[in-house]
Amino acid sequence: LSDMLIDSFGRFHSYLRISLTERCNLRCQYCMPAEGVELTPKPQLLSSNEIIRLADLFVAAGVEKIRLTGGEPTIRKDIEDICLQLSNLKGLKTLAMTTNGITLARKLPKLKECGLTSINISLDTLIPAKFEFMTRRKGHEKVMEAINAAIDLGYDPVKVNCVVMRGFNDDEIVDFVELTRDKPVNVRFIEFMPFDGNVWNVKKLVSYYEMRDKVVAQYAGLIRLQDHPTDTAKNYGIDGHRGTVSFITSMTEHFCAGCNRLRLLADGNFKVCLFGPSEVSLRDPLRSGANDDALREIIGAAVVNLRRIYQIYGLTYVG
Ligand code: GTP
Ligand code: 5AD
Ligand code: SF4
Repeated sequence: LSDMLIDSFGRFHSYLRISLTERCNLRCQYCMPAEGVELTPKPQLLSSNEIIRLADLFVAAGVEKIRLTGGEPTIRKDIEDICLQLSNLKGLKTLAMTTNGITLARKLPKLKECGLTSINISLDTLIPAKFEFMTRRKGHEKVMEAINAAIDLGYDPVKVNCVVMRGFNDDEIVDFVELTRDKPVNVRFIEFMPFDGNVWNVKKLVSYYEMRDKVVAQYAGLIRLQDHPTDTAKNYGIDGHRGTVSFITSMTEHFCAGCNRLRLLADGNFKVCLFGPSEVSLRDPLRSGANDDALREIIGAAVVNLRRIYQIYGLTYVG
C-alpha cells in the first residue's frame, strides 16, 4: 500500500465512487430539472480503458471497494466490459453499483457474471402514480422487478435507497419496512439533502429521530445493530424480519469523521468530498501521456490538499 490515499486527517481512503455517466433515464425532481442536465461532450468523458487505467492505480494503492454511479450507470453501453475489467483488478473486494433499477432486471444476470458483487437500488415510493410524479417518468413496476431479480440472483442484502421527503413519502415508511419482513432487503431511509437547485426546503426534511420514531411505534422489536466505522448508515434489525432497516443521517449527524470516499466523475475530474467545490482533472494528464508515478502524485496531492482546504477555511466538511 502507498500513502497516496491518506489525507491530512490520517484517514485511509479505500472506497472509490466512479460516475460512469451524467445521463439518466429518470428525472427525479430533487436531482434534475425536467429538461435534464447539461451534458459533457462525449469525447471529454473517460473511455472504459481510461477508467480501468485509473481504477487500477487506486486499487494498487489500497482501494478495496468501487461503486459505480451516475447519473444512471446502466445507461453506459460498455457497462459489462467495465464491470468485468474492474472485477479482475487484484485487491478489489467489492464491486458495487447504485442504480435506479429501470433497466436492471434485464441486465443484472450478465452484470453478475461480470463480477458485480453488490447492488443498491433507489426507490422513493411504493405507489406507481407518486413514482411517476417524482421521477417524471413511468417505470415503477420495472424497479420492483429489479429488486426481485436481484434477490433471485442471490444478492444479500439488496439495498433499497429511499430519500424521505415530508408530504411526499413520509407516510410510506412502515410500508417500506414491510419489504424487510420476508426479503433479504436492507431498506435505507435517507435524510433529504440540499443540492444546487433541487428545491430543498427544511420543512421537507424528515430527521433520523422522526423516521425512527415512526418505525418504533409500529415495531417493538427494533434492535440497533453494530455499524462499520466507515458506514454512512445507522443499521437496525427487527425481530423476525429477514431484512434490515437503516437510516442515512446526512443532515442531522453527518459522518465526515469516518468518511473514506473518493470520487471519480464521468469527465475524469477527481473529487474528495461530495460537497467540496475543488476538483482536479485526471483525464488531462492521462491524455497528455502522464505515467503512473505522475498520476499517483496528482492523486496523492489531491487527497491531502482538498481535505486541508476544508481545515484552512474552517468549513464543516460533509463526507
Ligand atoms: P454502501 O456502500 O452500500 O454503504 O452505499 P453508500 O451509502 O456508500 O452509497 P449510495 O450510492 O447507496 O448512497 C446512499 C446515500 O448516501 C445517498 O443519499 C447519497 O447521496 C449519500 N451519500 C453517498 N456518499 C456520500 C457522501 O460522501 N457524503 C454524504 N453526505 N452523503 C453521501
Ligand atoms: N438527498 C438525499 N439523497 C439523494 N439522492 C439523490 N439526491 C438526494 C438528495 N438530495 C440519492 C438517490 C440515490 C443516491 C445515490 O442518492 O436517491 O439513491
Ligand atoms: Fe437523479 Fe438518480 Fe433520479 Fe436519475 S434516478 S434523476 S440520477 S436521483
